[in-house]
Amino acid sequence: MITAVVGLQFGDEGKGKIVDFLSEMHQVVVKFNGGRNAGHTVVTQAGTFKFHLIPSGSLRAKEVILANGMTIDPIFLMEEIKNAKAANPAIVVRVSRLAHVVTELHTFLDKCEEEARGEFKIGTTAKGIGPTYEDKYARTGVRMDDLGNPDILKAKLQLIIKMKGTLLHGSKYEDQAEVDRIVRELHEAGKAVSEYLCDTEIMINSHFSEGMSILFEGSHGTMLDVDFGMYPYVTSSNTISGTLSVSSGFSFRKVGKVIGVVKTYMSRVGEGPFPTELHGPKADTLREIGHEYGTTTGRPRRVGWLDLQLLKYAVMINDVDSLALTSLDTLGQLDQIRVATGYYRDGERIEGIIRKNDDLKGLEVRYAEFSPWGKLSDEDIMKIVENGIEAMPPSMKEFVRTIESATGRSAGFISLGNRREKTLVLDPALKSGA
Ligand code: IMP
Repeated sequence: MITAVVGLQFGDEGKGKIVDFLSEMHQVVVKFNGGRNAGHTVVTQAGTFKFHLIPSGSLRAKEVILANGMTIDPIFLMEEIKNAKAANPAIVVRVSRLAHVVTELHTFLDKCEEEARGEFKIGTTAKGIGPTYEDKYARTGVRMDDLGNPDILKAKLQLIIKMKGTLLHGSKYEDQAEVDRIVRELHEAGKAVSEYLCDTEIMINSHFSEGMSILFEGSHGTMLDVDFGMYPYVTSSNTISGTLSVSSGFSFRKVGKVIGVVKTYMSRVGEGPFPTELHGPKADTLREIGHEYGTTTGRPRRVGWLDLQLLKYAVMINDVDSLALTSLDTLGQLDQIRVATGYYRDGERIEGIIRKNDDLKGLEVRYAEFSPWGKLSDEDIMKIVENGIEAMPPSMKEFVRTIESATGRSAGFISLGNRREKTLVLDPALKSGA
């Protein structure tokens, strides 16, 4: 079984929980994009686990792979590996030699670039990811494979400093002693990381040949994709399902199923258009009930209604087979439940998604309303988990059916709470692990 999981909105859709659930039926979990800007939370009886670089599947999988498309801070990675091993001592971790290294310099540059953007600021998580991908494509980047060689490290950092001189002017990084310090720290981290480095593209393909089941865990969300998202308010990598080929060296043709994770309301951190955004007390209530604060930065998230027009686009671009709907327990507690059904301008329906702030002007978003199904008790939730969709309150069922019919995809999972067991699995193949 080869499965890919991607977020269909702005990230934070609840992928962590779905990946954790699926990792029981997959032997290997591969993460292929992003870096520590991403954040996943998994809640189990043993506690709450937050992951950034390490896949959310690491609590149950036998092996996790950080593929070439990722950007990795090796010092932070060692901390996360330690935590992952504490939670799952038998876990095997493999890291691509080709993945790019986030250094202290990149993190500093991320802040400088955001400041320089002024009114065009993105709301970056400032974890150095953007500048690391910039260096990758400028062909000046540091790769994991370079960590073993201090001379190469030094030469590469000096080149980056030369090329980014304007931004670094007046900073401590003009001092050679600082560069030498970073080289030493990276080299030390490199020694610790070296036992995990390998040609992950060969490893993934040979696992496939041996018949192992593999789960590809996407980071971020479709609307943060550097091509198809709401550019420039995006992350600096591709986030859609097709990315897994170039970012892990495994052919997309071998992927059996793409699962798209959909939060049943929406949230985003950072700047950029959000056609269904809520403001004022309604937004505050939803943010509080849904604990909508960033996993990586702690920032309060902007919140709003589920947007079916955006969702249809995301289903198309990711070629989604099955949906995983999350946070229905949260949504039901609001005193009003709405879903955006389409965009209109001057009374005319407009197709596609809104990418620019300017396009929000004069935009009319039309909504469908659903009766709130209220706060469900644990007992109610477990009844739904055991008996299926027919055990749902009628308006909740109607809500699920509306999403399915708008997207033309059925819900394979419905998440009704943070805990693993509060998950209704409707997809027969995933129920049986076939
Ligand atoms: P960066 O990738 O840290 O530069 O951030 C670029 C934009 O993507 C900002 O709006 C971030 O808040 C957003 N972003 C990046 N990663 C995530 C994520 O995993 N969840 C939600 N938003 C994210």
